[in-house]
Amino acid sequence: MRTAKYKSTPNFSSDCLKIPKLSLLSQDPDSSGSNSPLFTPIHLSLVVPTYNESGNIERIIRILSRILDKALPNDYELIIVDDDSPDRTWEIAQTFLTEYPHLRVMRRQSERGLSTAVIRGWQAAQGEVLGVIDGDLQHPPEVLLKLLSAIDQGADLAVASRHVEEGGVSDWSIMRRFLSRGAQLLGLIILPRVISRVSDPMSGYFMVRRSAIAGKLMNPLGYKILIEVLGRGDIEQIAEVGYVFQEREEGESKVTWKQYKQYIHHLFRLRFSSRRIGRIRQRIDFPIGRFIRFILVGFSGLAVDMGSLYLLYDVLGLGLTRSAILVAELAIINNFFWNDLWTFGDISKHQRQRRKVLKRLVKFNIICLMGLILKVLLLNILFNGLHLNPYIANFLAIIAVTTWNFWINLKLSWRITETN
Ligand code: GDD
Ligand code: MN
Repeated sequence: MRTAKYKSTPNFSSDCLKIPKLSLLSQDPDSSGSNSPLFTPIHLSLVVPTYNESGNIERIIRILSRILDKALPNDYELIIVDDDSPDRTWEIAQTFLTEYPHLRVMRRQSERGLSTAVIRGWQAAQGEVLGVIDGDLQHPPEVLLKLLSAIDQGADLAVASRHVEEGGVSDWSIMRRFLSRGAQLLGLIILPRVISRVSDPMSGYFMVRRSAIAGKLMNPLGYKILIEVLGRGDIEQIAEVGYVFQEREEGESKVTWKQYKQYIHHLFRLRFSSRRIGRIRQRIDFPIGRFIRFILVGFSGLAVDMGSLYLLYDVLGLGLTRSAILVAELAIINNFFWNDLWTFGDISKHQRQRRKVLKRLVKFNIICLMGLILKVLLLNILFNGLHLNPYIANFLAIIAVTTWNFWINLKLSWRITETN
């Protein structure tokens, strides 16, 4: 019986974090390579990592089973991977094994951590499609079917995203939004090839085709397993499905500062991983036409800057610093509107509500101000540190900051469609 061996703790003897290929799974090692009659591949293996989710585990098992029994009768499995929770989540889950034949429960006693829990679950899985969903009902279960149909239509990876149409967060504080976006921004700087491929790289709700990651050595750290999948898998086609991140009703989040530190460590490790380099198929699709439009808009900003400086400083007699700050802001606002209408007009035309335009303007402003700080820093390094000619230093700094402004705004300002 499929569930039997998971009633006790599986024995993980190696550190190997590879996901086996389906063809290997169907070979029974005890009968010299012939196909095991017991093995039947199934379509979907959905992993639910849990730690102290005793208040949620029954509901999540029931809801997921109801949805999947209907969509994929006898063609899926639900794998709970619990890290020996002190509140005995694993024990509660085990009481449902007889009621739900597609349920498997893993109780890990030798390892801990969200990412490795997911990988261990997938290693034990028999499905062609591997998925993950949180065990605390913050991920709306009905989105599963959209993810599944995206995979069935050819995507290698289908990600539930808070940052595409119909996505959002229900009731997050400014601080939490800021931290989440800050983490994404950092990712765009340290690991642009990987992080820029999806609108919500922090998502822990997705499905991936087994063949895209089978045989790859996965070495995740901390919470963000999707980054590992994107960084090391052979992912060609990606689909994104919007979802609203629900509030937690039972139990509590396990995120602490340690997860932020691990995330940064994880980014750097992927960045400098020699195994990845050379094999990486992902290209950055740099939208050159958009970039040229962005630069042209930049020139219009320069004209606004110069013209209004003349007006404020020379004509009205305002102080130079005050004038310079005011005109810089005017130029930013000018640039925003032209970019919104022209450079990114194809994207923004779907989101013309005043609130959304305002949100984009605020984002654009913050990113450009960060760009300004970056420019001053760079100029100092190039001029004072490397003793470059000041005009060459300034020119290089302008190129760097324009690229920054373009790239980060492309990924963060003209992509978001949160509906709260
Ligand atoms: N097995 C195991 N081991 N499970 C864990 C561990 C662990 O060490 N830590 C957390 N989990 C489980 C939780 O029980 C829950 O089911 C799920 O992983 C997510 O953990 P939370 O602590 O609830 O995370 P969150 O709500 O703050 O963060 C979520 O939001 C992100 C979006 O920004 C997570 O779902 C992320 O996966 C998601 O990307
Ligand atoms: Mn949660």
